[in-house]
Amino acid sequence: MNYNFDEIIDRKGTNSVKYDLCEHIFGSNDVMPLWVADMDFRTPDFIIDALKQRCEHPIFGYTMLPKTLIETFCQWTEKRHAWIIDPAWTDFVPGIVTGINMAIQTYTNPGDKIIVQPPVYPPFFNAPQLNGRHVIWNQLKEVNGRFEMDLEALEEQIDDRTTMLILSNPHNPGGRVWERDTLEQLASICYRKGVLVISDEIHADMTYVSHRHIPFASVSDEAALNSLVFMAPSKTFNIPGIIGSFAIAPNPTIYRRFHNTLLQLDLHGNLFAYKAMGTAYKQGDEWLRQMMSYVETNAQTVVAYFEKELPMVHAMMPESSFLVWIDFSRLDLKDKELKQLLVEKAKIGLNEGISFGPGGEGHQRMNIGAPRSMILEALHRISSVVK
Ligand SMILES: Cc1ncc(COP(=O)(O)O)c(C=O)c1O
Repeated sequence: MNYNFDEIIDRKGTNSVKYDLCEHIFGSNDVMPLWVADMDFRTPDFIIDALKQRCEHPIFGYTMLPKTLIETFCQWTEKRHAWIIDPAWTDFVPGIVTGINMAIQTYTNPGDKIIVQPPVYPPFFNAPQLNGRHVIWNQLKEVNGRFEMDLEALEEQIDDRTTMLILSNPHNPGGRVWERDTLEQLASICYRKGVLVISDEIHADMTYVSHRHIPFASVSDEAALNSLVFMAPSKTFNIPGIIGSFAIAPNPTIYRRFHNTLLQLDLHGNLFAYKAMGTAYKQGDEWLRQMMSYVETNAQTVVAYFEKELPMVHAMMPESSFLVWIDFSRLDLKDKELKQLLVEKAKIGLNEGISFGPGGEGHQRMNIGAPRSMILEALHRISSVVK
């Protein structure tokens, strides 16, 4: 079966963050929203059908986490990422940002230092700050058009108050799929220095054809003993409104502490999340293959478009997912002016680079998980206002 990713679906009026918050975020509803990270593709029909089928039963009573859901997730992870997970290390967590906040509260104390590697997904530094922890910035370097970690600087910054590092694997923004060697070195430094690694792998299932995701905890014993990994089907199958993810900790002590926080907060999922997630993992391979092929072509289109039409603007070719990091710095505009140009003149709503922390100046993040006609329209609008 061929899935149709060209379909334009009107999402306005559904309480969609991406569409119905435009006035609040951009000061106007008259923008094409290519910002917050959900896709404009129809959620796969097999998921919609499974939810409809559940609705046929007339009682939505208390529903337990199906044991088969964790098993299905473990099978998916072994098949796609060659990582064999024991269900006993695995918990359901409503959302990954919730999980990151829980991890901060579980494993660190107020005043501790937490390392993040910007530019990076904003909750990575907002969550530590909201919890009264200090953020240590270890800025990524751009080498030959790709992000690299500065591991020397990382090691130098760690002191005895540094207790956690939050990793985006693969990386948002930029779509970098971290290589084994980098992850091994990171694991070794953090293990030696007693810095727990929280690896957020929400984008793991969406690597491009020539890249392979490596789960952080799978790279070495040091990594397995010293990490908590988050994964989810939410981005992969365009069901983030369903709210559901998984936390995995191969080290039983790390696992027990996190599990205890879940119990204290009485956090669990809901019947629709369980249904959607299990169905996605059981039936999603072919939809995901086709969706990623479409998104990878979108990424190539964006990169090639700027190269040809607007060489002063440079888009970094992602290695995964549906987000493209675009460098407008050669236009020599202040961030506020750049935003104004894009929002008021081009009428395009992107994520401002500065919201991703140091290194985001002069950049914008574009969400390309949308029909190609929208992406092309956005590129034409940007090109004409910049020109
Ligand atoms: C790296 C990363 N982690 C977490 C999330 C959000 O996860 P959740 O909706 O499960 O809190 C996002 C969404 O963009 C993300 O890019």
